Amino acid sequence: MAIDLLLGLQWGDEGKGKIVDVLTKKYDIIARFQGGPNAGHTLEFEGIKHVLHTIPSGIFHPQATNLIGNGVVIDPVIFKQELDNLAPFNIDIKRSLLISRKAHLILPTHRLLDAASELAKGKAKIGSTLKGIGPTYMDKTGRNGIRVGDIELPKWKKTYSALRNKHLAMIGNMKVDLDFDIDQLEENFFAAVAHMKQTIAFIDSEEFLSQAQKSEERILAEGAQGSLLDIDFGTYPFVTSSNTTAAGACTGLGVAPNKIGEVYGIFKAYTTRVGSGPFPTELFDEIGETMGRVGHEFGATTGRARRCGWLDLVALRYAVEINGVTQLMMMKGDVLSGFDELKVCTAYNYRGKTIEHLPYSLNADELKPIYNSFSGWEEDLTIMRDAGELPDSLQKYIAFIEDFVQVPIKIVSVGPDRSQTIFRTTE
Ligand code: GDP
Ligand code: IMO
Ligand code: MG
Repeated sequence: MAIDLLLGLQWGDEGKGKIVDVLTKKYDIIARFQGGPNAGHTLEFEGIKHVLHTIPSGIFHPQATNLIGNGVVIDPVIFKQELDNLAPFNIDIKRSLLISRKAHLILPTHRLLDAASELAKGKAKIGSTLKGIGPTYMDKTGRNGIRVGDIELPKWKKTYSALRNKHLAMIGNMKVDLDFDIDQLEENFFAAVAHMKQTIAFIDSEEFLSQAQKSEERILAEGAQGSLLDIDFGTYPFVTSSNTTAAGACTGLGVAPNKIGEVYGIFKAYTTRVGSGPFPTELFDEIGETMGRVGHEFGATTGRARRCGWLDLVALRYAVEINGVTQLMMMKGDVLSGFDELKVCTAYNYRGKTIEHLPYSLNADELKPIYNSFSGWEEDLTIMRDAGELPDSLQKYIAFIEDFVQVPIKIVSVGPDRSQTIFRTTE
């Protein structure tokens, strides 16, 4: 059976957690394939809001198995905190959560290196979540990393010490002002590693997934971050350190490209970005401020305010093409209620010429968005449950997007709760 993918098409925080939770009833396995605790995936139901960082968003469905795949990087300390947060909800973790032995570990010194690197960059900093993501993937590709399977080996503490000493020397050489207590950090780390070993089954996940496919199990791969943060196709260097796009699911789970089925692409009805880097449609006025306030645009991982702006259809079409998106999901249209006029970017003025694709550089001094305008709507969408209820202006907004990117919008989300999800039949 083919594996379906669910991916963010912008700069992250599109609402992936919510939609994975909504879709999980149709799946047997939910698998994360890249990223790590830089992700913050929010789910809301029965009046409770949950934020997951490493654990897949199918965890609240007892029938589903949740897999943390080989492409993910895991911080045992944050992972333990996530498990502690889930404790009141009576989830059979031993049965419903598995970790790939090939997933890499984030060490305390990876986090320190992340902070040191950002300090050294000064104004040019990436705006990283400081979770150690970049340094951990650097050790992975540099062939120095420590994997989950290593902690089952007798010599693991030796391997750990060698890498930790190398990191401490690197931090020393960077000559930045960084305060830390390595003994305390290590005490927490080793306690969390022991807890992880006791609580969770480590598996050879590519074999597990291959068997699952043969037994016709339905699998959904849950992306983290968004396509514009992809290490190759995002706004480099202001990106994360993994492939957030569809190809990342193949390498991050051990799935062949010809086994991919539906590719669900999620986007917000406007755009947000947290951290540094170019953002052509960013708004610095009252409209942007209203989007942030009404949409509660604060990072689920860091609490930082998200930058807000109009929907960028050129960037959306780019993400749709790179990922081979087959169905779209539009989130947070409810946040746009009450604006007289809405704008979407349909082309750029780039170095004095009009272009309709995403160029190499998105720097503000070379590139200006060209907009189409739409009339807004007044209605409160959060109480709507049926596609027929959606206001005409919103229907026009949706039809324009579908026509521009040539992919149907199958879900319109009108609020953070599981129930605030409208399925559209577009055939
Ligand atoms: P993720 O990282 O893609 O899972 O997204 P986040 O959880 O970081 O951010 C999405 C935020 O929007 C969360 O606070 C969600 O609860 C919220 N959210 C999701 N869908 C909707 C929606 O349709 N309307 C509104 N108002 N909020 C939503
Ligand atoms: P989810 O899965 C939004 C951003 C950071 C920073 C850049 C690099 O919740 O959508 P990193 O810590 O990865 O080295 O940071 O990427 N970033 C995210 N922005 N949502 C995320 O995840 C993000 N994960 C990383 O803000 O700009
Ligand atoms: Mg998020």
